[in-house]
Amino acid sequence: MKGIVLAGGSGTRLQPLTWGTSKQLLPVYDKPLVYYPISVLMLAGIRDILVISTPTSLPALRNLLGDGSRLGLDFSYRVQPEPRGIADAFLVGADFIDDEPTALILGDNVFHGAGFPRLLRESIAALDGCTLFGYPVSDPERYGIGETDEQGNLVSIEEKPLRPRGNNAITGLYFYDSDVVEIARTLTPSERGELEITDVNKVYLKQGRAHLTRLGRGYTWIDAGTHDSLLAASQYVQVIEQRQGVRVACLEEIAVRMGYISRDSCAELGERMQGSGYGRYLLEIAQSL
Ligand code: DAU
Repeated sequence: MKGIVLAGGSGTRLQPLTWGTSKQLLPVYDKPLVYYPISVLMLAGIRDILVISTPTSLPALRNLLGDGSRLGLDFSYRVQPEPRGIADAFLVGADFIDDEPTALILGDNVFHGAGFPRLLRESIAALDGCTLFGYPVSDPERYGIGETDEQGNLVSIEEKPLRPRGNNAITGLYFYDSDVVEIARTLTPSERGELEITDVNKVYLKQGRAHLTRLGRGYTWIDAGTHDSLLAASQYVQVIEQRQGVRVACLEEIAVRMGYISRDSCAELGERMQGSGYGRYLLEIAQSL
């Protein structure tokens, strides 16, 4: 399975923070926001990753992430010239996808929870059409909302409904089979002028091939696209890291634990950053393996 991180958009809800840099490079406690969605793809076992962003932000993201080899990954990059919608990722990334199943994750989404790697892998193994991940929220009008029947099957999906049918938000992580590019090609822009990811999901739903995996109370999901949610994400990560002594979304740690890089490479990365607690953590991890 291939992975796409959609890291464009204008970041208007975070102005003026986003006037000088892109949203996905802003810090969430000790690392850039974009590390969090990348960590999800890595934990799902995905190593071939396309990063899509604006003409101005893409060079900075490439500068940060490089070709991925230091993490045992393969990063490619494509520009999205205009924010034409989330589903536009499949048109921009069509040649990268190359008829394979694809995971799409939004560059401002933070996920965390025990058992998540297993859940991701099981979802990929059982993929039939598309798999969406649901999360209960108190402000459902801000999200795509999935309605389910008594058996937990999806029956409707609505984008930012004025009168939400329930509080089950569709998070910014989506698994699709290889039909997704063809489906994206059939879409027309919505009233707000975007190719909506919800419209892609509705096509799968109509075919009876849209499945919802609910992330229960043990999970944290934060769409860090506003000042408050960005701060909440930092505070959450700070609490977990300080209380537990482990790091959330530490890409180098995931790479070494998944066997993508050697212990020596992890130590080398730690040495390069040993002026920071993050770097010293990598040295500790390398020594402990
Ligand atoms: O976070 C989950 C929600 O994400 C879902 O529940 C909604 O169904 C989905 O539409 C989306 O809603 P948002 O209002 O959060 O979408 P937003 O326009 O903020 O875009 C999400 C991210 O994708 C954002 O970081 C910018 C990036 N993006 C967005 C668009 C429209 C792009 O890179 N290019 C784009 O064209």
